[in-house]
Amino acid sequence: MHSAIPLTEKVFWVGVNDHETDLFEALWPLPYGISYNAYLIVDDRTVLVDAVKGHFLDEHVNRIREALPAGRSIDYLVVNHVEPDHTGALRILRELFPSIRVVGNKKTLELLAGFYGAGGDTHVVQDGDVLDLGTHRLTFHLTPMVHWPETMMTFEASTGILFSGDAFGGYGTVDRGLFDDEMDLAFFESETLRYYANIIGRYSQMVQKAIAKVGTLGIKILAPTHGAVWRTQPRVAVDWYDRWSRQETKSAAVVAYGSMYGNTQKMAERVARALVDAGIRTLVHNLSHSHASYVLRDIWTSRALVLASPTYNTGLFPTMDDLVRLLENKLIKDRLLGVVGSYGWTGGAAKALTAFAERSKWRIVEPVVEVRCAAGDQDLERCAQLGRNLAAAVRA
Ligand code: FEO
Repeated sequence: MHSAIPLTEKVFWVGVNDHETDLFEALWPLPYGISYNAYLIVDDRTVLVDAVKGHFLDEHVNRIREALPAGRSIDYLVVNHVEPDHTGALRILRELFPSIRVVGNKKTLELLAGFYGAGGDTHVVQDGDVLDLGTHRLTFHLTPMVHWPETMMTFEASTGILFSGDAFGGYGTVDRGLFDDEMDLAFFESETLRYYANIIGRYSQMVQKAIAKVGTLGIKILAPTHGAVWRTQPRVAVDWYDRWSRQETKSAAVVAYGSMYGNTQKMAERVARALVDAGIRTLVHNLSHSHASYVLRDIWTSRALVLASPTYNTGLFPTMDDLVRLLENKLIKDRLLGVVGSYGWTGGAAKALTAFAERSKWRIVEPVVEVRCAAGDQDLERCAQLGRNLAAAVRA
């Protein structure tokens, strides 16, 4: 029930699976849960690498006690990332293991003091510093903004384990298999991409810098704070993050629409049909039903996007307004955009979508289709033409 899982003879997974939280960051759905991975290194000095969310302390501590040799305590806690999903247990861990010395960089310790109060033993490290444990040797690599400014990664030379923090992580608990060779990778890729688009994507440039920095370390095992531990093909996870952080897209389209009475939906579906007829893989989201988490995931790897919105109180339909703000917040770049809008007595939606494209420097593919009340045959033919034009632009 509370088994610690060995990565090597002396390194153990002592994390937890969270099936209780509905929304990660109180925002993003977790239908398959999430894991908070933590690791214990047993050597002349024992090290806990990252911890867990406070609610799961009991399970976490049981696993730590199982992996610790009799009579030993924890000497160091390496905090690669301060966000409370990895440090919520800190205060109680300090009480249970008073010998703990917290290892982090200057920003780590400032943020920890802000969240949990100052105090306790600390050990400040800088980029490239080394901590010798006996047989194991930790090197600290600062990787800011993946996902917070204090974020760092820790490399253990004798085993080739990179403790990478949020980087290379994904949604989904690891009770379905902790290691990459135990997992359904197609399922896990989808949930990892969703995590990337929701949480890390805004910081893609910093992910590129981090990959350049740690990519040459000779990683044998990739041990992030969420999701699979990669012991067979760590290169696969690095390649996923590399492609996503370069915002590499496929010849695919997403059609996202809001519709109160089905009129805008009819136009969106006509564009989608034309895209499909032209051979473009197309995913359609009704924003009143699809959570933005999934829409962002699909947009992240698609070259084209169609946004279709009614005018609502002179602006965008609220779910579309939310999506557009998220697209800007996540710094999604260089997409082809089809714009479809409708209105009853005064326009607004198409203008707002066009303004979004200009701010984001996305290319609008013509025609912009804006219809009063309900689309007639000619309007629907313009929607089909938009779909055909987008398909051609995707292929160009
Ligand atoms: Fe998993 Fe940014 O915390």
